[in-house]
Amino acid sequence: MDVIATASPAPTTIHRADYRPPDWLVPEIALEFDLAPAATRVRATLSVTRNGAHDRPLRLDGDALTPLSVTVDGAPVSWEMDGGDLVLALGGDAHSITTEVELSPETNTQLMGLYASGGLLCTQCEAEGFRRITFFPDRPDVLARYSVRMTADKARFPILLANGDPVGSGNLDDGRHWAEWNDPFPKPSYLFALVAGDLVANRSTFVTRSGREVQLGIWVRAADLPKTDHALQALETSMRWDEQVYGREYDLDVFNIVAVDDFNFGAMENKGLNIFNSRYILADPDTATDYDYDGIAAVVAHEYFHNWSGNRVTCRDWFQLSLKEGFTVYRDQSFSADQGSPAVKRIEDVRGLRAAQFPEDAGPLAHPIRPDSYMEISNFYTATIYNKGAEVIRMMATLLGAQKFRAGTDLYFDRFDGTAATCEDFVASMEEAGDTDLSQFRRWYSQAGTPRVTASISHEQGSGRALLTLAQAVPPTPGQPDKAPMVLPLKLRLFGSETGAPLGPERLVVLSDARAEVVFEGVSERPLLSINRGFSAPVIVETDRSAADLAFLSAHDDDPFARYEAMQQLMLDTLVAAVATGRGDHAAVIAAVKNTLTDAKLDHAFIAEAVLLPSESFVGDQMGVVDPDAIFRAREALRRDLGQRLESEWRAAYDATRAGAFAYTPAAKGDRRLKTVALGYIAAGGASDAAHLAFRQFEAADNMTDRQGALVTLTSGTSDERVAALDIFYNRYADNPLVLDKWFQVQALSSRDDALAAVEELARHKDFTLANPNRARALVGAFGVNQRAFHDLSGRGYRFLADQLIALDKLNPQTAAKLLPPLGRWKRFDVARAALMKAELHRILATPGLSKDMFEQASKSLD
Ligand code: ARG
Ligand code: ZN
Repeated sequence: MDVIATASPAPTTIHRADYRPPDWLVPEIALEFDLAPAATRVRATLSVTRNGAHDRPLRLDGDALTPLSVTVDGAPVSWEMDGGDLVLALGGDAHSITTEVELSPETNTQLMGLYASGGLLCTQCEAEGFRRITFFPDRPDVLARYSVRMTADKARFPILLANGDPVGSGNLDDGRHWAEWNDPFPKPSYLFALVAGDLVANRSTFVTRSGREVQLGIWVRAADLPKTDHALQALETSMRWDEQVYGREYDLDVFNIVAVDDFNFGAMENKGLNIFNSRYILADPDTATDYDYDGIAAVVAHEYFHNWSGNRVTCRDWFQLSLKEGFTVYRDQSFSADQGSPAVKRIEDVRGLRAAQFPEDAGPLAHPIRPDSYMEISNFYTATIYNKGAEVIRMMATLLGAQKFRAGTDLYFDRFDGTAATCEDFVASMEEAGDTDLSQFRRWYSQAGTPRVTASISHEQGSGRALLTLAQAVPPTPGQPDKAPMVLPLKLRLFGSETGAPLGPERLVVLSDARAEVVFEGVSERPLLSINRGFSAPVIVETDRSAADLAFLSAHDDDPFARYEAMQQLMLDTLVAAVATGRGDHAAVIAAVKNTLTDAKLDHAFIAEAVLLPSESFVGDQMGVVDPDAIFRAREALRRDLGQRLESEWRAAYDATRAGAFAYTPAAKGDRRLKTVALGYIAAGGASDAAHLAFRQFEAADNMTDRQGALVTLTSGTSDERVAALDIFYNRYADNPLVLDKWFQVQALSSRDDALAAVEELARHKDFTLANPNRARALVGAFGVNQRAFHDLSGRGYRFLADQLIALDKLNPQTAAKLLPPLGRWKRFDVARAALMKAELHRILATPGLSKDMFEQASKSLD
């Protein structure tokens, strides 16, 4: 154990077991904002009631607030501050408390609370930002009815929006105006929002299934209005989908979304007034990729679905965060699957889980989807809470079946509507409506770590019996050395190794013990095992399937996801062996890729996903000690070989997918995807015209997918066209921040030898700034996942990241802390790299004035 030198005392740890109901409730709050960028006055009047018999004072959370005045029932009182909190000793059980504070939105670089972005004033309150706006019991189990009055300069801020329904507006003398909004639904403070600015709306009317009219508006700067149709359409589709699939109807007369440029994450589900990172709203073919379009639809749906899973039923405390986030991610994933190809969507989601959540679960920051403790809740908006949380919901849906799962969600929504619930409430609803015992399943909420399943099958030719032996183990994680077996729903099916025919139907085997055996009868030929089909459980599966068997399954399995998995496993085994031996045996991969690439029955989107090699980091995750250079070499060698040996097939695929004018349809998306994947392989094979081909695609493109796809290929190469394309791209989009982010990101992800030096240089570019989270993530965040460049043996990559994090922490601790995890993976690297990484973590911790966010991430990463 290291001695950790820190500049400040350790922040306190909050424990789930310490939960206590609130001492005081706040049924109503009236807020008055006198808005201006440099100085905003906030006057809040809270009606408070004592909750139960106790004599504890009223404690109102505050963060960097100074009370200008405090009155109780209209009379000025003396008050006490405890840290940032305002504490009032009160007799009696019900009072009206009024406080006044002044804020400076334009200097709020944390982007939490009330802040300025591109001429707008806007808010972000989840998780604990409301206490930066006014004194309040800022916890999700205090639900209040909000009325909001805003006044502001009419010329600068002609539009004034808040939660709920508009109830009045008018002009004042002196060029100011006012607006009032009331939200009839009691809500926790983290769902409060307001926006003031010069905005225009793309509007529409939605009629709910019970015939109510809802006014929809997507609010942006006038120049961005043409880029809002996709988001508006996604909103309408989501609203209909939630009625049809979950029976959930929208409940207010208006639903507004505002796009802002400076935002700490994707978007926020404030009641009736969602606020979005503009990257998840703005799209047109010239500036947004298909990936961006899909992301917009998914995030619009996600935030809309929160109106029920999050707002109507909220969380009792932040340890229950996955109650709303895991469930809502599951809902948005199902929505997206319904809009296009479910198999391709599942492949993308699983790839994301493996890229972000599996490493988290295997590292120093591992935590269960319902954590037991935290220092800073912002650090727990993680892939585990969101994406593993969604997998846990998906497993319940699999175990119960569609009908009972729907009965369970109905019961949950009905029973807990208007309340702050727990994960336990959700599981109990499933149990009751599904008439199922989920006692052991609950371990998914308390145990961290990705379970490992081993499976091996033996076959008796004579009796026609096959015996499948399954075993599971959950690895130790911080604070959890010993694990109990989990409930693992494994979909499996056998296929004949000669005929490729299914040997019996798909079966759902629920593995709940450490070991189990499953017997199959009537198995007439040597069986091949297709297991964890559709990724029915979020586990790592190890089998003894040979390269030939995996190649065969990649061609014959009837589940497209399982075909993809067989191919991935084959590629992974090939690369891991190549790293170990220094020379790769590529024959099986080449044959399998050729087969998939030329299979006319497969759609292009699927082919494009299936022929992609696993990422360098995912290969690293399979190894005891990660050797980033050897992995890079092995993977490049396989890419080159695939490119050369299948050159005519790649060219045929490339030519076959030259689609006509841009259309955002699943087929056209699949064409574009395969086209760029094929281009990448043609270039990897070293074809002499590859750069020319890429540059032609770059120049001829009528859409960003093709243009960026070509740019990615050129950027990692050495051609003259590379520099030209980067310059053209930069000049063409110099005034579009979202596209400039792509320009930074593409270079940060480059596989060239000079990627690290280029990133250091880009951090000094005039368009680089840490103040905008999208820009910071585009360069610094992307660099952290460029395995070879980041892990450069010199340690310069580590130093670069630490320098950027230390600088960013002073502006925006929340965004900084999110970018730290790549430094915490030192245990998985050789001693030289590990020492360099730890030295940077120590340097971060020794920084004076370090935030609690960063302290938690860095100190836990050293354990
Ligand atoms: N609830 C928002 C969403 O999922 C995200 C809020 C993130 N908050 C944070 N402190 N990181 O859609
Ligand atoms: Zn969410």
